Amino acid sequence: MWYTPLVRNKIYFDFNATTPVADDILQNISQAVAIWGNPSSIHWAGQSAKTLLRESRQSIAQALGVGPLELVFTSGGTESNNTILRSFFWRVIGRDRHEFITSSLEHPSVLKTMMWMRENGAVVHVVPVDRQGLFDWDFFHSVLSEKTALVSIMLANNETGVLLPVAEIVQKAHAVGAQVHTDAVQAFGKIPLNLKQLGVDYASLSAHKFYSLKGTGILYSRRGSEFEPLLSGGAQERHRRGGTENTLGIWALGKMAQKNLLINTQAERLQALRDHLEKRILNEISDVSVNHQTAQRLPNTSSLILKNVDGETLLMSLDLKGYAVSTGAACSSGNPEPSPVLLAIGLSRQEAQNSLRLSLGWSTSAEQVDQFVDVLKETVIRLRSLNELADESLLDKKILNVSSDVGLDTGVNTFSKEVSL
Ligand SMILES: Cc1ncc(COP(=O)(O)O)c(C=O)c1O
Repeated sequence: MWYTPLVRNKIYFDFNATTPVADDILQNISQAVAIWGNPSSIHWAGQSAKTLLRESRQSIAQALGVGPLELVFTSGGTESNNTILRSFFWRVIGRDRHEFITSSLEHPSVLKTMMWMRENGAVVHVVPVDRQGLFDWDFFHSVLSEKTALVSIMLANNETGVLLPVAEIVQKAHAVGAQVHTDAVQAFGKIPLNLKQLGVDYASLSAHKFYSLKGTGILYSRRGSEFEPLLSGGAQERHRRGGTENTLGIWALGKMAQKNLLINTQAERLQALRDHLEKRILNEISDVSVNHQTAQRLPNTSSLILKNVDGETLLMSLDLKGYAVSTGAACSSGNPEPSPVLLAIGLSRQEAQNSLRLSLGWSTSAEQVDQFVDVLKETVIRLRSLNELADESLLDKKILNVSSDVGLDTGVNTFSKEVSL
């Protein structure tokens, strides 16, 4: 058992937004809280915190196939991404090698930073990824040159789960002397990840996507690949990131890194569950398609388009029944605009608004998946029939307008009561 469900009778299918904390961590957390010293202090209290940092760094480095001193602890994926992009921005301004390449599917912490860099004079090329999940190699080759300073392409997308060809990108970028950063936040903990073999110069990871605590991240910086700190301050992290380290979060991530070998087994199990989920949905619910279905994807993620069903309404209906799902990135929820990633791969606004993201995790069982499909089916049928009723009632309203003189009863009020549930 890898996590304690937060609430009884609630089922979680939103592991790409965040993961529950592993049982192992919950059960042993008081032991780590008791190590309260400042790792920079040279007395006994500081030394035990310093040992905690050293041991965690060692386990995480081993899990990622890199050296411990190539890892810098940060507050999360957003900070790691910002650190590398902004460091390169300031470094290359006014130099010959001053261009950047990224993809249209990046998380806002990359894409918005790139747009800020562009507004401030940087040349930024955005490589499209299409509806099939294909990276536009022709475009990439047309913009990659000896002017390219940094290529930043994510390893796995948070919404459709599509995997981008980072290993090949590294080879091509290095051939022209450019460096490569990857946002590996969604890949970390879901698929085996060896950063040395991948060959990137920099990578961003986040602990809360891997059953540990929020507020802890990793910035991998290959030996010899320099960057300027985003946060200047004390000498922490060998002068690469100022600020007293989050010892609790780092301890938790170190513990999860020791479970590294389970990633492979879980990936296989989750892929079988995800495929079963999609098969049942496609067979039993009409007018559904899966985004990036034929592309290489994360094993746990399914992004669906359900025709004639509003994603937000579906999400709320499922939530009322105890199922947590998502219509897109969690950081965009509450935003009525359709997901920029889904629009970027070529979906219409309507299709993006009809989308639902399901992401499974280590505690997901076959029973939960089957139960969920039954509930989804029933909910989709109900929402579609309400839509039909709405269309009919609109028609009735028109008739009413035309025939109000003769006092016809159209049933419009009955319908409004139903949709307001
Ligand atoms: C692909 C990707 N990059 C970066 C982040 C940001 O990570 P954090 O929440 O640790 O700042 C996320 C979080 O959803 C993500 O999915």
